[in-house]
Amino acid sequence: MNDFSGKTVIVTGGAKGIGEGVTRAFAQAGANVFCADVDAAAGARIGAESASLPGSITYVDTDVADAANCEALVSQASATGSVDVLVNNVGIQPVDSYLPVHEFPEETWDRILDVNLKSGFLMSKYAIPEMLKQGSGVIVNIASVQGRQSMKGVPAYAASKGGMISLTQQLAMDYSEHNIRVLAVNPGTIETHLALESVNHDVEALRSAAAADHPIGRIGQPEEIAAVVLFLSSDEASFMTGEYVNVDGGMMAKGSWAE
Ligand SMILES: NC(=O)c1ccc[n+]([C@@H]2O[C@H](COP(=O)([O-])OP(=O)(O)OC[C@H]3O[C@@H](n4cnc5c(N)ncnc54)[C@H](O)[C@@H]3O)[C@@H](O)[C@H]2O)c1
Repeated sequence: MNDFSGKTVIVTGGAKGIGEGVTRAFAQAGANVFCADVDAAAGARIGAESASLPGSITYVDTDVADAANCEALVSQASATGSVDVLVNNVGIQPVDSYLPVHEFPEETWDRILDVNLKSGFLMSKYAIPEMLKQGSGVIVNIASVQGRQSMKGVPAYAASKGGMISLTQQLAMDYSEHNIRVLAVNPGTIETHLALESVNHDVEALRSAAAADHPIGRIGQPEEIAAVVLFLSSDEASFMTGEYVNVDGGMMAKGSWAE
C-alpha cells in the first residue's frame, strides 16, 4: 500500500513535528520529498537522513506564506517530472496569540492566516497546474480539530483551520473530475514544538493534559498523523475526496473537549 517509489511529494513545514514525520514516512516509502521549511538547522538534520532512506529528502529553505516562494518550490519539485502529492502541513500558533478578538493584533491575525491558510491556497494554485498536466494528484491539508470545535482565545488559529477544511471541500469539488483528490486531516494534540510552546515546553504537563482531553488517554505522535496522510495519498483511498479525517484519540467523539 505504501509504495511511493518514483513519486514526488511536497511537504510544507516539513522539517519538524508532524511535517517531519510526514517527510520521513514518504521518503521511507520511496518518494522524492521536497521538504519546505524556514528552520535551516532542522532541514539540514532531516536532509541528512536522505542517504539512508529508499527515497530522497531535498530541503528547501523557504517561507511558504509568500507567493513567489511557493511558485519556485513547485517549479523545483516539478523538475523531477511530476508533483504527485502536496501536503499543506505548515501551521503556527504563537504563544502570544492566545487572545480574544477585541485584544487581537491585526498583524498577528494576518501572519497566522497567511502561514496557516493562504499558504495552502498558494501551494495549491501552483501545484494544481502540474497535477492537471499529469492527470492525477493528491492534496492533503493538515487542519485541526480546532477547525471543528475550538477553545477560548484562539480566533485566528481556529478560523485558519476552519478555512482549511472549507478549502479542502472546495478544491475537491473543483478538481475531482480531473483525478485530483483533496483531503484534510484534523490532528488532536500531537507532541511537537507547536503544542509544547503552549505549556512552556513542559513535556509532562502537555502529556497529562492531553491524556485527560483524549478518550484514548494519551497524546499523539507525529508518526500517527503521517501514517494516515500516507494512506490518504495512496490508491487505497481512491474513492475519498473532499473529506476530513479526525486523528485525535477520540477527542471529537466527546462532542466538546476544550472545557
Ligand atoms: N501539534 C498539535 O497538537 C497539532 C494539532 C492540530 C493541528 N496541528 C497542525 O499540524 C501542523 C504541523 O504542526 P506541528 O505541531 O508539527 O508544528 P511545529 O511547530 O512542530 O512544526 C511546524 C513546522 O513549520 C515550519 N514553519 C513555520 N512557519 C513556516 C513558514 N512560514 N514557511 C515554512 N515553514 C514554516 C516550522 O519551522 C516547523 O518546522 C500545523 O498546521 C498545525 O496547526 C498540530
